[in-house]
Amino acid sequence: MDQVHGNTKLVVVSNRGPVSFAEEAGRIVPRAGHGGLVTGLRDVVLRHRAVWISSAMTTADEVMSQSAGYGSFEHEVDGDTFVLKLVRSDPATYARYYERFSNAVLWPLQHGLFDPLNLPDTNGWWTNYGAYRTINSGFAAAVLGEIADSDEALVSIQDYHLYPLAELIRRHRPDVFTIHFVHIPWPSPDVWRMLPTGIRETLLGNMVANDIVGFHTRRWADNFAACCAELLPGAEVDREARVVRYGGRETWVGVYPLPISMDWWRQRAASEEAKQLTEELRVRREQQQLIVRIDRPDEAKNILRGLGAYDTFLRRNSDAYRGRVVFIVHLIPARLSMSDTREYLESIRARVAEIDALHGSPQWKPVELIIENSIARAAAEHRMADVFMCNSLMDGRNLVSLEMGYLNEVDGVLILSENAGAHELAGPFALSVNPWDVSAQAAAIKTALEMPADERARRSRGLKEAVTSEEPWFERQWADYQVKREQR
Ligand code: G6P
Repeated sequence: MDQVHGNTKLVVVSNRGPVSFAEEAGRIVPRAGHGGLVTGLRDVVLRHRAVWISSAMTTADEVMSQSAGYGSFEHEVDGDTFVLKLVRSDPATYARYYERFSNAVLWPLQHGLFDPLNLPDTNGWWTNYGAYRTINSGFAAAVLGEIADSDEALVSIQDYHLYPLAELIRRHRPDVFTIHFVHIPWPSPDVWRMLPTGIRETLLGNMVANDIVGFHTRRWADNFAACCAELLPGAEVDREARVVRYGGRETWVGVYPLPISMDWWRQRAASEEAKQLTEELRVRREQQQLIVRIDRPDEAKNILRGLGAYDTFLRRNSDAYRGRVVFIVHLIPARLSMSDTREYLESIRARVAEIDALHGSPQWKPVELIIENSIARAAAEHRMADVFMCNSLMDGRNLVSLEMGYLNEVDGVLILSENAGAHELAGPFALSVNPWDVSAQAAAIKTALEMPADERARRSRGLKEAVTSEEPWFERQWADYQVKREQR
């Protein structure tokens, strides 16, 4: 099986793939992968017939991989045919790589969630970092196998699970072109200084084994260049041009914001289930204004402060708004294997109960907490939200706020954190908030609910236009690839 784009073999690599398999009543059934990364990449992969390499996460994934002789195989999901390759690994090593290093060290570090006064004991980090490298070696072997017969290959590597990958590939195939795209924030050098020196220097050195390193925003790209300049001995950095020279090679640092998948959302919003849920919300809007948020239960999403802001808003405006507003907090269950996530979800439930006890009545529930992985429901909420809340502490992009901008039909107002990467695009049409300032977020809720219709319409139009006119993500990287390949 050989997918080509011109003469180049295209391979996309991410920890989570577009499909995972499950065993149900003795049959193996596909389940679409979730999350912004998967939704954003699927269009690109399908359009270019790339091979998508990801982790085998379930026993059924392993069975599928085995029946394909551990090579790539085609599989159709909801009418789309993907070419997949699933990488098997030892479960204990995988847990250290995924839960303990990727999600307990890199994710919090890059979202500014480390508490410098109570930094966890870094001894364990080394063991988990070892597992992180081991799993990356498995990915490297899978990529090398896939491109063995190709003279020219472009490997598009995704996110923080795979920082060592380009260097591991290059050891065997120095000719291969790699682009590593980081979907999450890249903080300033002072934050990276909290990692053990050996780990951060190796990770940075590995990253500049790529030809191009990409980010959603200028802010994260500039921070990456600053990290190379300050924390990677021997690196020569042109910060203006965002070029890093290291070990005789040159890495370009680029900005390629990932647009939302418009076709995919349009189709989801047109499903019978989504239409029905939309009608239910439309009827509800006759009585109540709808404030909506859709997130994973993740501390970086700042859900407790969002609820705190709503509580403050209700305290300040109880007479005017009692029974006339509802905050729909729709949480997509993810990473529940991690105890931190489960505890966070519990604190959210407790806070919702508190607000209910304080402001609610038998006739009115001020917050509706929905924990469900339902795209149809999300589409309906996007369409009908009067106010959409995204107050993330730090967010690589935050596609969900842009998806709301695209689908909304009622001139909904976006409240948007100034620390979300999407702010570079959507900021001018949103009510910008400082994610730590609860009082200001409470004020923003009131402003949004009371905004005059013409002002709402103007912002909503502007946001739609901005979201729908974004440049294609992969094609821009492809153009840079061609220029840089000529210069090699
Ligand atoms: C979100 C982030 C991505 C990240 C993904 C991992 O979608 O925006 O940057 O790769 O989560 O999620 P997972 O559920 O696979 O841990």
